[in-house]
Amino acid sequence: MISIAIDGPSGAGKSSLAKRLAAELGYVYVDTGAMYRSIGLYALRQGTDPHDAAAVTALLPEIRLDIRPGQGAQQILLNGEDVTEAIRREEVGMAASAVSAVPAVRAYLLDTQRGFAKTQNILMDGRDIGTVVLPDATVKIYLTASAGARAQRRLKELLDKGQAADFDTVLRDIEQRDYQDTHREVAPLKQAEDAVLLDTSDIDFEASYALLKKTVLERV
Ligand code: DC
Repeated sequence: MISIAIDGPSGAGKSSLAKRLAAELGYVYVDTGAMYRSIGLYALRQGTDPHDAAAVTALLPEIRLDIRPGQGAQQILLNGEDVTEAIRREEVGMAASAVSAVPAVRAYLLDTQRGFAKTQNILMDGRDIGTVVLPDATVKIYLTASAGARAQRRLKELLDKGQAADFDTVLRDIEQRDYQDTHREVAPLKQAEDAVLLDTSDIDFEASYALLKKTVLERV
């Protein structure tokens, strides 16, 4: 089985690039961020502080995630409800980053994530895929871009969707999420030693896609 691990900070374009590449290669796309987002969403709905590790851990027995990966898209059900769209909101991303620092949450998701790679060719994106989830992945990519470039892209996305947003707030959110994701004790975001570093700060989506595809195809 071939597994491609793509890690990197939020807003680097991982999921859009990964989805397209998975569809083109005919691999199953697994979005691990969606799993943390679903737990973050559940905590928000229960009025639980996503930073409160004990309270978040106590919620886990109430949570059933049904992850349905596909080629180029993944659907996720939280206790039977399709939350694929609901988890994309900005505040859910923040809650996801907070709950992802809780060791019990990471342990809860690990077997599920590893299970996907056992029986099919997959492309999995996240923060710790190359370092923890799939240390033997066929190809590891660390996809990044400067915080400023990521904030600029995110701002454009929000404005295109008709949402009010300003650069400084978006940049602050990105920097906060980077800090949380790289400073947690368990499985922090970092480049695996054997990962290929791709920096897309100065190239557009099409050029990033071409670079990613070439890098992967040279190695599978
Ligand atoms: O990729 P994303 O923005 O959907 O991820 C949301 C949060 O989930 C991210 O800020 C950190 C966490 N996450 C993680 O800790 N490990 C992963 N493999 C994927 C996501």
